Amino acid sequence: MLLTLEGLDGSGKTTCVAALRESPALAGATFTREPTTSWYGEAVRRSLVDDDADPLAELFLYTADHAAHLSRTVKPALDRGEVVVSDRYSDSRYAYQGATLSDRFDDAVETVRELHQPWTCPPDATIYLDIDPETGARRSGATNKFETASYLADVRENYERLVAAAPDRFIRIDASRPVDAVRRDVLTAAEQLI
Ligand code: TYD
Repeated sequence: MLLTLEGLDGSGKTTCVAALRESPALAGATFTREPTTSWYGEAVRRSLVDDDADPLAELFLYTADHAAHLSRTVKPALDRGEVVVSDRYSDSRYAYQGATLSDRFDDAVETVRELHQPWTCPPDATIYLDIDPETGARRSGATNKFETASYLADVRENYERLVAAAPDRFIRIDASRPVDAVRRDVLTAAEQLI
């Protein structure tokens, strides 16, 4: 089973993933993330801090990182029969690059999705930490160019579209509440899924 966590910056994903790592139900699971810690992921991080990065080039960097992540980490672990938990995955691309590229394509979310379809491995379930863009931007401290409320509002709209298109795959959790409540709900959801 491939379980992914998605949400805006500042939604508390990192805290929730740390809690999942401690869950006995997930002992033996492979925990991973995008951007990855490989050199492909490093290239993505360089782009993230470049305010002038070309958004289309950036899409391909993230997508290259995803391709390597799939072949080196995700698929081998799934083939071994393990549960894989990924902190961000393909939906981050559809939502975030769907927003950075909205003026380059008529339907950027769909364009980015189509780019992935022939080779990606879709998640079985996705926990979506839902937070309003203002709270997300405030909590994340705006440490990169994506963390402004107006950009996050576009990203959130894209996530909503993805949820509406696959309601059975997403589990929505209200992440505007105190982190303890969010963490508890994420743990319960993940344990039920497993
Ligand atoms: P994030 O998981 O928030 O990393 P960290 O915990 O180190 O802050 O991801 C970094 C940023 O990258 C975040 O603003 C979302 C963005 N991002 C994309 O734009 N597209 C993608 O495909 C991914 C995986 C992340």
